[in-house]
Amino acid sequence: MSLVELSAFLENFIKFYGAPMVANAMPVLINGSKPIDGGRQWIDGKRIFGDGKTWEGLTTGLLGGYVASLALSIYFNSASLIPVLLTASMAALLGDLTGSFIKRRLGLNRGDPAPPLDQLDFALFATLIYLAFGSLSISNDLGFIALSLAAIVLLHIATNYIAYVLKLKERPW
Ligand code: CTP
Ligand code: MG
Repeated sequence: MSLVELSAFLENFIKFYGAPMVANAMPVLINGSKPIDGGRQWIDGKRIFGDGKTWEGLTTGLLGGYVASLALSIYFNSASLIPVLLTASMAALLGDLTGSFIKRRLGLNRGDPAPPLDQLDFALFATLIYLAFGSLSISNDLGFIALSLAAIVLLHIATNYIAYVLKLKERPW
């Protein structure tokens, strides 16, 4: 990959995955205490989402996604980007919730590692939004999407480790 190709990739990576990544990262920064599932259990007797998915986290995630979407739309000078990025940010948070829902159904406790679900749930949901909006297409952008998801896995591992060292997270994943 040449330098020109790399910078073109990074530009598109930030354009499409910047807001979902901010939305997904914000909840880690605040120590939420009100579980979205209200402590309730699914029919299997296990928690619906678990204590790691809180209203405070969801709210800060939405707020972060909103601010990031506006900022990126200004940076890329594209008003039409706003609804796409906002929807993708909300989808990212829904994806994170879905990931936890799946983990609980598999009998995994809050914080148990489930790679690559932990790293990719939010990004996959955001990607589906871009495909639905036609901002990205499977036929043209499969390489970009695959490279972006790979970058997100690596970034996720690195940032979670930093969050662990800073004692924002109890475990390094
Ligand atoms: N978080 C939150 N609300 C959310 C999402 C995340 O409060 N909607 C916070 C929680 O403190 C959570 C941390 O961000 O522990 C890291 O998020 P994540 O890794 O997704 O949660 P886990 O604790 O690993 O739980 P799970 O096993 O459900 O993924
Ligand atoms: Mg986790």
